[in-house]
Amino acid sequence: MLFWVVCMLALAWPHAVSAAAKPAAAAAYQQPSADGLPGVHNKASDALLRWVRSNGGQVHVAVRVVPGRGRGTFAAWDLEPGDVLASIPVELVYAANYSLGAGFESAGPMLVLDMADPSSFWQPYFSSLPKPGQVLSKELMPQSYSPIIQDENTEAAIRLLQDNIEQYCRLLQPAFDKLQMEANVTRCAHGTALLSTRTFSYNSQEVLLPIVDLANHDNACLHTHRVEPCDVEAGNKQREEGLPAPEIPPSFASGAVTPAETEDTEAAAACSDKGGQHVAGSCKGDLYSKQSRGASGICIVWRAETAVAKGGELCNNYGLLLQDNTVLQYGFLQAGDIALELSMLDRPEHSQKFEEVWDKPKSTWGQPLPHKFTGTAQDIQAEVQRLSERLQALRAGDAAVAGIKVHSDDPGGKMLPMLLEWRQQRLHAIKLELQRLADLREDLRLDAIDEL
Ligand SMILES: *[C@@H]1O[C@H](CO)[C@@H](O)[C@H](O)[C@H]1NC(C)=O
Ligand SMILES: *[C@@H]1O[C@H](CO)[C@@H](O)[C@H](O)[C@H]1NC(C)=O
Repeated sequence: MLFWVVCMLALAWPHAVSAAAKPAAAAAYQQPSADGLPGVHNKASDALLRWVRSNGGQVHVAVRVVPGRGRGTFAAWDLEPGDVLASIPVELVYAANYSLGAGFESAGPMLVLDMADPSSFWQPYFSSLPKPGQVLSKELMPQSYSPIIQDENTEAAIRLLQDNIEQYCRLLQPAFDKLQMEANVTRCAHGTALLSTRTFSYNSQEVLLPIVDLANHDNACLHTHRVEPCDVEAGNKQREEGLPAPEIPPSFASGAVTPAETEDTEAAAACSDKGGQHVAGSCKGDLYSKQSRGASGICIVWRAETAVAKGGELCNNYGLLLQDNTVLQYGFLQAGDIALELSMLDRPEHSQKFEEVWDKPKSTWGQPLPHKFTGTAQDIQAEVQRLSERLQALRAGDAAVAGIKVHSDDPGGKMLPMLLEWRQQRLHAIKLELQRLADLREDLRLDAIDEL
């Protein structure tokens, strides 16, 4: 993972280590509502938007709930490449707290503690996060579902992760007691799941990034977020002239940047009440002319990289994700052709090293599908052999998997059907790949004959 971070930063792409909890799907929306945007206005996000704006941030997207799909971000007016979607002062970012130990398994229970503090500066953000039972990722997977995965390394990695969460949770018991809170493992695991499904990596730090984390993942998404001056004029100049990004204050890395105290109520009024209804430009103009109030003047700026018509969904890209990447790590199944691709854990390039079990496929930014296996006739023969054995083993495991019942810890009973659907897709993808390899081998054979 570290390698990735370094790589991606070197390419000047903002690197997201993980994905928001919901998928972006190629969607045929129902009738747009009166304001020309899909779905319905998300009242629950209003307090969050006000908080961001009153602390020097900008939000130029509409947060909507589309029935059957959940929450997402949409263009409130026609957007051009380069337009600012949101600008979040670094003071509003929540950095994972590793004072107890490395990894989300320690920082997750710490987040739960912070969330339980009613006086926390981040309360408006915390309130916007998915509630326990709404995240379906590996941290919360009942052990009895493990045979569905049928990959020794991955199953062991999940067990270890859950054990670690439990340990850190117990370590924090005195702190939980002080708040008269019961620190059970489900609650601690929810904290870890929030971090592992929503954090972005900046400055080698994992942070929760308000607003941007409301956007759903799409493998083909090109929109970017990067460190820029909060002053949009300066940001535009930096962008146009290819100037280096401002330094993130060192305190950011410790999560201790002091939040700005001033309330930019004027700016808030200019945008928040009108929601998606204001005329293109009016709200933007008001905000662009203002100097942002974040104490450092440094923001994470999310920009459109393609034109998006009003009402279009604004996606995020966490790097190319295959079905097992999203199901196990982020708790959702993706729609579209990605379902026909081999899962990461079935790929020949998938590392068998335990510490690399969560690796994602290597790919180019915005590439919606992974590279396909290719090689000599001999390579293909070996790959056919490997995949055939895998398919056979999975089929042999089907009977045991069919007997798995919904576990009482499965949030709303939703995780079991999701995992089973993924398993079906996985089997189907292996069969498709075997067919493709057979065709490839035939082509190579015909080419060889031609050359004779
Ligand atoms: C764990 O804590 C949560 C929140 O307090 C509660 O809803 C849940 O029932 C608890 N679970 C167990 C197994 O005690
Ligand atoms: C991390 O948590 C510890 C223990 O609660 C606390 O003392 C410290 O200030 C926290 N660090 C940050 C950066 O919030």
